Amino acid sequence: MALQDYQTALVTGASSGIGAATARLLARRGLAVHAVARRQERLAALAGPEDGAGVIIPYGLDLRDRGAIYEVLGALDIDILVNCAGIGSRFDPFHELDPDNIDATLETNVGGTVHAVRAVSPGMVARRRGHIVNIGSIFGLHAIGSAVYGASKAAVHVLSQDLRHDLKGTGIRVTEVSPGRTDTEIFATMTDDEAAQAAMAAGFEIITADDVAAAVVWALDQPWRVNISLIELTATEQIPGGVSIHPVAGRG
Ligand SMILES: NC(=O)c1ccc[n+]([C@@H]2O[C@H](COP(=O)([O-])OP(=O)(O)OC[C@H]3O[C@@H](n4cnc5c(N)ncnc54)[C@H](OP(=O)(O)O)[C@@H]3O)[C@@H](O)[C@H]2O)c1
Repeated sequence: MALQDYQTALVTGASSGIGAATARLLARRGLAVHAVARRQERLAALAGPEDGAGVIIPYGLDLRDRGAIYEVLGALDIDILVNCAGIGSRFDPFHELDPDNIDATLETNVGGTVHAVRAVSPGMVARRRGHIVNIGSIFGLHAIGSAVYGASKAAVHVLSQDLRHDLKGTGIRVTEVSPGRTDTEIFATMTDDEAAQAAMAAGFEIITADDVAAAVVWALDQPWRVNISLIELTATEQIPGGVSIHPVAGRG
């Protein structure tokens, strides 16, 4: 089982950014792509026949609504699940973070991902075919400085690694794709200050949603014997870690 053997995909967070790019690529590869997000008008713009034989089918759904995940997504026969939906925590210092924003971050990034996997995986196990791709972040792999967002993405990292144990022998592969700063709309979830949003995409050439989607599809394209467990991809000029002993100024 590899990408050419699969017929259906479910992509969460498909109304923009990495999810939209992934949904388009998979539709071009001939899959029927079930696309999930809250902004239905954005999904409608994605829907319809793509360049290839595939099609994108929209679902306006809030992944913080656990019941809807099981009722709507649990009823679908899915070969590939790509968990892209996510928000960034607000830029405020940790001790000033709005508790509602903490809940929104954890419920979307962790709860939405875990319940989507739980809703879709029984069908994959029954059919003995499936590939789950979770979009993590370098914030889940390194301490960079956004504790709640980092904790949510660290949870996605451990979830992905442990699912490989829990689903061993079922025919399901699991991949985590953890990007660095990517040019998408996510910056608007962190701050309303448009100058600060623009600054996130400035200073060096950051990677694009298409770059990340291509990494997702590359992992899906591997022959059955190969499980790509983790891909970390960043801009060439973004080095996670913060503190650098490199003697050249500006190279940290
Ligand atoms: N951009 C980066 O720098 C970066 C870096 C590392 C990792 N990531 C991760 O990449 C993933 C995709 O983000 P992106 O960068 O492509 O940002 P984006 O363009 O803002 O896309 C986020 C997607 O998540 C959806 N979403 C958010 N909350 C949702 C909810 N409650 N229910 C359903 N859908 C929801 C949004 O759709 P609606 O608003 O229409 O619901 C949107 O489609 C996220 O998990 C993010 O953490 C991003």
